[in-house]
Amino acid sequence: MLLTTAIDYTNGSPHIGHAYEKVLADVIARYQRLCGRPVYFLTGVDQHGQKVEQTASKEGVSPEAYVEKVTARFTALWEKIGVHYDGWAATTDPRHKACVQKILTDLKEKGQLYKKAYNGFYSVRQEQFLTDRDRDAEGNFGAEWGEVVEIQEENWYFKLSEHTEWLVDFLEKSDVILPQFRKAELVNALARNGGIDLCISRPKERLRWGIEFPFDADYVTYVWFDALINYISFVGYGNLDPSLPDFAATWEKVVHVIGKDIMVPAHGIYWYCMLHAMGFRNEEMPTLLVHGWWNIRGEKMSKTLGNVVDPDQLADTFGVDALRYYLCRDISTGKDSDFDLDRLVMLFNTELANELGNLCNRALNMSQKFTSGVLHCYLPLEEEDLGLQHSLVESLNLYREAMDAYDISKGLEALNRHVVNCNIYAERMKPWEMNKDPEKKQRVATVLYHLAESVAHCAVMLSPVLPDAAAKLAAQIDLPGLLDRKIDELAWGLVPNDHVIQKPSPVFPRIVPATPPDA
Ligand code: MSP
Repeated sequence: MLLTTAIDYTNGSPHIGHAYEKVLADVIARYQRLCGRPVYFLTGVDQHGQKVEQTASKEGVSPEAYVEKVTARFTALWEKIGVHYDGWAATTDPRHKACVQKILTDLKEKGQLYKKAYNGFYSVRQEQFLTDRDRDAEGNFGAEWGEVVEIQEENWYFKLSEHTEWLVDFLEKSDVILPQFRKAELVNALARNGGIDLCISRPKERLRWGIEFPFDADYVTYVWFDALINYISFVGYGNLDPSLPDFAATWEKVVHVIGKDIMVPAHGIYWYCMLHAMGFRNEEMPTLLVHGWWNIRGEKMSKTLGNVVDPDQLADTFGVDALRYYLCRDISTGKDSDFDLDRLVMLFNTELANELGNLCNRALNMSQKFTSGVLHCYLPLEEEDLGLQHSLVESLNLYREAMDAYDISKGLEALNRHVVNCNIYAERMKPWEMNKDPEKKQRVATVLYHLAESVAHCAVMLSPVLPDAAAKLAAQIDLPGLLDRKIDELAWGLVPNDHVIQKPSPVFPRIVPATPPDA
């Protein structure tokens, strides 16, 4: 599987939306590997374009120096929050430039590009040309376009309109848009924008910070045309550079994880049409996994509103586990969610510190105390034991179903369900009471075995989302290779009889929120 995220604009610092997307993709990659499916995870940064050029000039530095500084913030954050990628796409990389230029040359040779004069309106903020279809009901260009200027210039165009009929037909026949409800949005947009070709150049007198046209040195490449190509340039398209992966082997089962704002027109229309023009076949077309947005009290996060959430600060304040858990747990893939610090703290404290923490504490601490850390399951089993084993099978099935559908929140909900059942079982069995009765030593061991066996499974299921915490749990259970197991190997009985566990230590210390000064 080739799994990619959008490449982030390097004209500011990473915010919570960027972090969500990278964590989501990281979790998907880790889960796929848990299923034994090979994954190549590509992410990176989008470094060209007018916005970068403008911000760099405001700061009085070169665009090169500016993007280098901002890119370092992104790579440092991914390192800090455990986003592990296999390939890094930075669009100023000479290997990417060579690939974009080769594609432009190929498309020109195929008769897919032409030059034409244009007289009309241009949105500086969105870096795109506008048509009458972009006007609102009153005939104006809305605030979303920012400053709109009238310009006249000659540019290079891609014959997008030659591919839209194919695209409509392809979308109708395929399931490449996930979740499915987004497909209608794309099909409607295509019906509105289908007949228009795409302007893919910017004259250098207006923008210098881009990839030069290989056959017309007065122009640079439109930032979206350049950026979309990262998905193939960095996995070896065209065999241009031996340091990159083998394209034929890597370009398979491709999933692009993107936000809902960049499905139309960039990925859903431009990218599919570009790939089609390059000769990609229907079965080689990527899937778009379109996620929703994190908002603040229903409003978009924006620098202007001053409500942008900084993931770096959150990781420092609450820890990486709490941040990753929240970003996976409190949003359903495809839908929007409100970012809420109280919920971040509450979900960590309830589901991890209390529920899972309690289970681990009971299983591992009591085993240390009551059975000297030796786990043993004595027969015959009682109805409650079988009930707990059944709960695990059910949770595991639900977890797999949800994770296979990229619904991480549901996957965690399934895991949590078993954790809750384990605690109910412990409350019912009361091994701490039973232990007072010397006749019941074997029964105590069996109950603790059931709890510890559950912890082993939970560690594996949790590992895509919280790899570090899962590793700590696995170390305490001390089963060699526990986290190297594939999901198909998860079945009751991971822990052999008479296995000895390590000394436990808390993995999810409760978050104590700072008391507001006026409280
Ligand atoms: N550079 C383009 C993508 C080019 S891909 C060939 C871009 N960059 S971005 O920095 O603006 O956004 C990067 C990703 O972050 C996008 O998928 C976008 O949807 C996502 N998010 C930006 N803000 C977001 C939220 N508030 N919530 C969730 N994700 C959001 O677009």
